[in-house]
Amino acid sequence: MIEYSAEQLQRYLEVATEAALAAGVVLQSYWGKLEVIEEKGRPGDLVTEADKASEAEILAVLRRHLPNHGILAEESGNIGTADSPCLWTIDPLDGTTNYAHQYPFYAVSIGLLIDGVPQVGVIFDPSRQDLFRAARGLGATCNRRPIRVSTISELSRSLLVTGFAYDRRETADNNYAEFCHLTHLTQGVRRSGAASIDLAYVACGRLDGYWEKGLAPWDLAAGVILLEEAGGRVTAYDQKPFDIWSGRILATNGRIHQSVSEELMKVTPLSDFTPSAK
Ligand code: IPD
Ligand code: CA
Ligand code: CA
Repeated sequence: MIEYSAEQLQRYLEVATEAALAAGVVLQSYWGKLEVIEEKGRPGDLVTEADKASEAEILAVLRRHLPNHGILAEESGNIGTADSPCLWTIDPLDGTTNYAHQYPFYAVSIGLLIDGVPQVGVIFDPSRQDLFRAARGLGATCNRRPIRVSTISELSRSLLVTGFAYDRRETADNNYAEFCHLTHLTQGVRRSGAASIDLAYVACGRLDGYWEKGLAPWDLAAGVILLEEAGGRVTAYDQKPFDIWSGRILATNGRIHQSVSEELMKVTPLSDFTPSAK
């Protein structure tokens, strides 16, 4: 495995920042003016002209600065070289459903996996102009100020967030049971509709924990490195090592990690929400 210097990671962070800010301008330019909203396959899984234009902007910046790196982009798939240990994961618009409804909670999320491990991440929320950045060993910031996870250590005092995958109507393993169970035990469970911001909010202490299933690497890579650099913990639901290709994540401030994990492991799917339910 090649070692990457702090200078190299910093350079990659600057490239990702340039791309995320440019994409944010694109997203704001389409805000409230969408003409093309399509479904990608599953009901509710939307893609708009803004997703595509944002992705084109990000790809142009990455190709200009780092033409030898691999890219996995939500709307374009796997592009670029397969030889490099560096793979950029791009979500050009995380929170498309929110965006299409003009609910201002969405972000650009750009992560860098090196040998499959998140090392650099930038999440940009254009509505609030919140720019979250991190790189391995270099810390995590929001708008250039260091961020840190919360100090909440009891589940009963915590505020959590989760989400529901687009296949939720077709599978009993749709997270509804986990949502009910943890809503009971905490001060609340939010469903914001943008996984990258969920992770960023745990990283900066606005929320204490996050779990979800059915996610893609582009939803997670940037937020994972951000949270780890902010002092948080990221694992599988059962606290085994996190696998970015599994689509499942448990991400917390660290202090409530074991409690959330134990509660998630107790849950069985709700019988009322079987795949046959319309
Ligand atoms: C979605 C959002 C949402 C999460 C979904 C994701 P998209 O991403 O992050 O919060 O619950 O699972 O797919 O489709 O808006 O990029
Ligand atoms: Ca997403
Ligand atoms: Ca997206």
